[in-house]
Amino acid sequence: MNEDIEQRIIREMHRKGSIKTSDIVEATGLARQSVHRVLKRLVDRGDLVKVGDTKGAKYMSRELAMKGADPMRIRRSFANRDLHEDLILGQLRDQTTILQGVKSNVIKIVEYAFTEMVNNAISHSDSAKVTVEMESLDGAIRFVVKDYGIGIFNNLIEKYGLEDKYAAIQELLKGKTTTKPDRHTGEGVFFTSKVADTFHIESSGLRLTVDNSLDDVFVENIKDNRRGTRIVFDISKGSNRELSNIFRKYTEGDLAFSKTEIKVKLYKLGISYVSRSEAKRVVQNLDRFKSVVFDFAKVDTVGQAFADEIFRVFTNEHPAISIRHINANENVEFMIQRAIAGRTQPGLL
Ligand SMILES: Nc1ncnc2c1ncn2[C@@H]1O[C@H](COP(=O)(O)OP(=O)(O)O)[C@@H](O)[C@H]1O
Ligand SMILES: [Mg+2]
Repeated sequence: MNEDIEQRIIREMHRKGSIKTSDIVEATGLARQSVHRVLKRLVDRGDLVKVGDTKGAKYMSRELAMKGADPMRIRRSFANRDLHEDLILGQLRDQTTILQGVKSNVIKIVEYAFTEMVNNAISHSDSAKVTVEMESLDGAIRFVVKDYGIGIFNNLIEKYGLEDKYAAIQELLKGKTTTKPDRHTGEGVFFTSKVADTFHIESSGLRLTVDNSLDDVFVENIKDNRRGTRIVFDISKGSNRELSNIFRKYTEGDLAFSKTEIKVKLYKLGISYVSRSEAKRVVQNLDRFKSVVFDFAKVDTVGQAFADEIFRVFTNEHPAISIRHINANENVEFMIQRAIAGRTQPGLL
């Protein structure tokens, strides 16, 4: 009898790569405790290796474990034909223990972000191949999604008619920026960048970093100038962030995505935020939103024309959009107040 169960377990494990207690309970109808006992015996004898903690433990063959099939790290490449992000996620979950024992709010965030980013690689990149990685780091989960296609910034420049890579980043971070409006909504990158601890997009020799621990964004040049897009997403396993709270923050009663927040710092091209044309980039396409927050953190000063374009011209033209500004220093606040005062005197400037 015992012999039989052992054989069955080993057969099942060879068939699936790895097994869980519940797989055997289901297959044999035996009580969980008995299955545990047999599994333990197999582990003690060295026939199986146990990976993960007790609650979500998986068992695999010693050979597989020795071959370097690290249960806390996985990398897979797929031909971009009939791919589905949910199936890819399912494979990673089945073949590793990365998400086992992780808090449910963190799992929800990883699943949301991963499927959004894989969907983007599948449907926007025109890449023949999509590569995904997921790993459990010290206290954090990281995933990487890479394609070898047109490149996210390039795609936006071409299809959205934007002037350069920086404009592509600026538009992307406003949200509701999509090059396939009939089937997409332009929410994926926006919300994924908000639910991460840190989120990177690398493409066309640039790396965009959204660091939510520091509440800051950075753009830097990188050496890697290969085709395609690489996304790196990190979240701490201890994070208390809730996906639903992030959605709520940028939506209204009907759950429509209607609010956005703009880091004005990102519009510094060259010298300073002086000109009207830079401000025009800030407000371009904002009529998609009902509410906009302008974040002036790390902005030393703005020119009169810059402030006027946002706080007088734009608000006069869009009285229904509610706007707010935060983190303005004394200089910036002064310029903003001047522009606001000018709202009632359209002849000014
Ligand atoms: N891997 C990618 N390759 C090329 N373009 C991309 C990629 N990911 C995103 N994009 C571009 O960025 C836009 C915004 O993506 P996202 O915020 O997920 O919105 P959506 O997928 O709903 O369009 C896409 O419409 C597409 O133009
Ligand atoms: Mg998307």
